[in-house]
Amino acid sequence: MQKKIEKLNQLKEKVMMGGGKDKIDAQHEKGKMTARERIDMLLDEASFSEIDAFVLHRCSDFGMEKIGAEGDGVVIGYGTVNGRLTYVYAQDFTVIGGSLGQMHAAKICKVLELAAKMGAPCVGINDSGGARIQEGIDSLRGYGDIFYRNVQASGVVPQISVMLGPCAGGAVYSPALTDFTFMADKTSYMFITGPEVIKAVTGENVTGENLGGATVHSEKSGVASKMFPDEASTIEGVKNLLSFVPQNNLEDTPIKETEGSSDKKEDNTLQDILPELSNKPYDIRRIIERIVDDANYFEIQPDFAKNIIVCFARFNGKSVGIVANQPNELAGTLDINAADKAARFIRFCDSFNIPIVTLTDTAGYLPGVGQEHAGVIRHGAKILYSYSEATVPKINLIIRKAYGGAYIAMCSKHLGADIVYAWPSAEIAVMGPEGAANIIFRKDIKESANPNETKKEKIDEYKNQFANPYRAAARGYVDEVIDPKDTRVKIINALNMLLSKRETHIPRKHGNMPL
Ligand code: HXC
Repeated sequence: MQKKIEKLNQLKEKVMMGGGKDKIDAQHEKGKMTARERIDMLLDEASFSEIDAFVLHRCSDFGMEKIGAEGDGVVIGYGTVNGRLTYVYAQDFTVIGGSLGQMHAAKICKVLELAAKMGAPCVGINDSGGARIQEGIDSLRGYGDIFYRNVQASGVVPQISVMLGPCAGGAVYSPALTDFTFMADKTSYMFITGPEVIKAVTGENVTGENLGGATVHSEKSGVASKMFPDEASTIEGVKNLLSFVPQNNLEDTPIKETEGSSDKKEDNTLQDILPELSNKPYDIRRIIERIVDDANYFEIQPDFAKNIIVCFARFNGKSVGIVANQPNELAGTLDINAADKAARFIRFCDSFNIPIVTLTDTAGYLPGVGQEHAGVIRHGAKILYSYSEATVPKINLIIRKAYGGAYIAMCSKHLGADIVYAWPSAEIAVMGPEGAANIIFRKDIKESANPNETKKEKIDEYKNQFANPYRAAARGYVDEVIDPKDTRVKIINALNMLLSKRETHIPRKHGNMPL
């Protein structure tokens, strides 16, 4: 027996060395950690249990039978993150470039299935040369198998993709099917076809970084949920995100009591954040950090569609998702990217029982030929769809502007908001005073001896009559007009009241969300 145990230990040692010392050194020289180092950083100390460490590839083409590939280029298993069960796979670039063959894919599928069955999140760390060329069609099948399992697990357990190296070709679609994709700056990239293929097909010259680096996907494409300066901060980001989300779709939103979570003090200067003039911008983040626990919030896609903010935060310890117009960018208008960003976030929160708090201050849907031609109707509808579909507690606070279609879209009563609050500064109407006065008082203005004076008077008249929260409150579309100083307490009370919310829709296979 002792000899057998020694053999086992030798095998284990070999597996631990992945592709060998030289390859590990090369990985470190690139400023990258190995798969095992990354897993150790993610999971609580000594909590990792590895599965399938001795799996080998089955390929015999192109001399592959001579290549030992311990673990077949991916390390899988489970452990805990802050004490909570978490499944993980990490592609090992030191073993055949982390390329994905049949058995490599089978390991990833195994861990995804376990995660879904056991109801715990799955974190996938990607660092791979893509489909293992020698395994041909079996590699492609492997990707298909992973995509299928990503979809089966979607809405059952949170899935997080961590990009810490290359991810090219159809391989990018596994991260795209998961809930969040985090990228490390300068060391990760994602694209369907690389710079060389692009040059051959379209003649365009582009570097890998400019084509699919972390900055591109965080600012332009919206593919990345967030980018971080390096690997360690990316992994830290995953841990932070996991602290806000439940383990699965059957669990309630997590509760984390902190020093500031029980604070129910009034905030007498919150209202000062709003500028004197209602057409002046301000940063909605200043309101978010003043009303949530410990001024702590975790933004998703902070550099994409900056006219809307989506983030996780806590009220009285309970996780919520916040969707907030950002008046600092494009007057907080809703455009194509903002609609996509908000809808995806709302659907994540709804899948995982995370209440949604909406902060409304938007001038409306963004006008423009570019927006219309690119399909703002189709994309804008996603916000309406996702809010209407969501059955989690939905609270809306109208801070300032809520005009036209955007008033409806931003979690209005009519889309099923449970509680709508408004500050006295709220302006809820079909359109802004200037535009409205120009239309309905056109004749008076035209016939006036002093058109400018008359226009000003009519704008004021409209403001007094319509640009306030009281018309909506008179019809019950706003439940309560609140003093800004009470905002945090009111939201906490509403969240507590909504804890037992039950809402079901007519049974169906699935809706047909506009895409
Ligand atoms: C087999 C591969 C491989 C692959 C890398 N390797 N990619 N082996 N299949 N796809 C091997 C290399 O031969 C090398 O082996 C080792 O991994 C490390 O690779 P290097 O090239 O030395 O590393 P580096 O210089 O850092 O370059 C990394 C790289 C490059 C940029 C990823 O390897 C590369 O371009 N690989 C091919 C990428 C690609 O086109 N993949 C297919 C994408 S299409 P040795 O023995 O020399 O150490 C795809 C379709 C998926 O994935 C479809 C899903 C539906």
